[in-house]
Amino acid sequence: MKTEILKINRDNIDIDKIKYAAKVLREGGLVAFPTETVYGLGANALNEKSLKKIFEAKGRPSDNPLIVHIADKKDVYQLTLDISEYAEKLMDMFWPGALTLVFKKDSKVPDIVTAGLSTVALRMPQHPIALELIREAKVPVAAPSANVSGRPSPTSSKHVIEDLNGKVDVIIEGGNANIGVESTVIDATLWPPVVLRPGGISIEQLKDAIGHINVDPALFKEDGDKFVPKSPGMKYKHYAPKAEVIVIEGEVLKVAGKINTLIEEYKCKGILPGVLSTKQTRSFYKCEHVVSVGDRLEPETIAANLFKALRDFDDMGVQVILAEAVESTGIGLAIMNRMKKAAGYKTIYVS
Ligand code: TXA
Ligand code: MG
Repeated sequence: MKTEILKINRDNIDIDKIKYAAKVLREGGLVAFPTETVYGLGANALNEKSLKKIFEAKGRPSDNPLIVHIADKKDVYQLTLDISEYAEKLMDMFWPGALTLVFKKDSKVPDIVTAGLSTVALRMPQHPIALELIREAKVPVAAPSANVSGRPSPTSSKHVIEDLNGKVDVIIEGGNANIGVESTVIDATLWPPVVLRPGGISIEQLKDAIGHINVDPALFKEDGDKFVPKSPGMKYKHYAPKAEVIVIEGEVLKVAGKINTLIEEYKCKGILPGVLSTKQTRSFYKCEHVVSVGDRLEPETIAANLFKALRDFDDMGVQVILAEAVESTGIGLAIMNRMKKAAGYKTIYVS
């Protein structure tokens, strides 16, 4: 298949190009587009045939449900049942934005979207290109992250082209996804709601908004045996570059010391190491392949660059990535969740 690449400027949107991509979507094609979290791979959420194509293009397991994206809050009432007062409040406060709410689904929503679940996940993205595209498509748009399943999520069109060129109809080039980690997914069928996947909106923000919020215990479980995650996607190996990833956790200076020891050990074994460091620690390492992912004092910068950094190590041919842990507060919880999943939970604690 020939993939069309459409360049669109988010600050000066060419509506004809949007209308063209929207028509492709509405008529059953696949369109990758930027959102403020990561790039998404969109299909008409009411068309089973096009939904099947998403699973094929990504190599996605069919038991992993898709998020449905909308541009108008009214669509929530068409697609779901039993919306609570607190859910209304969260939508009003955080939409458009990086929050996905899981509701009981209306029978209109095809089973393939929800992988047979009786619930459906909805999000209104904030990115102007995403919003215009969904508006013009005039249908709800199912969109997982636009990567091959298991790879780090794409935060630029370059990553989407790497993974999906030749497998989808259109890729919109619309600059970088600025948040860099996916939306926070919450189960809004329960009180208090439960965070199924940490993301762009922090638990602290949600708690401030509605007072109570629980977290799926499976998120903190490393072997996944005892707890089956309620968000099916959380059980798969995810976000993984080709290199092995090891997370090093503890006091910053001790972490750096441990990483320097590991660098020497790997070099002796003939294995090429790389270090995922931060602005504050970059200069500590005696290693050829050190990437500063961001500023520890501004964790949003780390979120924005994490997936790109993981892909960059692959381009350098690094075989093992030694990754500094960061604080698990605010967006740090999502950063650590993605980092640990990329590592398959391989973690060294230094004390
Ligand atoms: O930021 C995002 O959410 C991005 C952009 C493109 O919007 N999308 C995204 O989609 O991350 P995806 O498919 O990569 O991840 C969707 C997550 C998965 O963990 C999936 O299991 C969960 O949402 N999910 C979807 N529907 C669900 C449902 N009905 N119940 C529980 N979890 C659900
Ligand atoms: Mg994904």
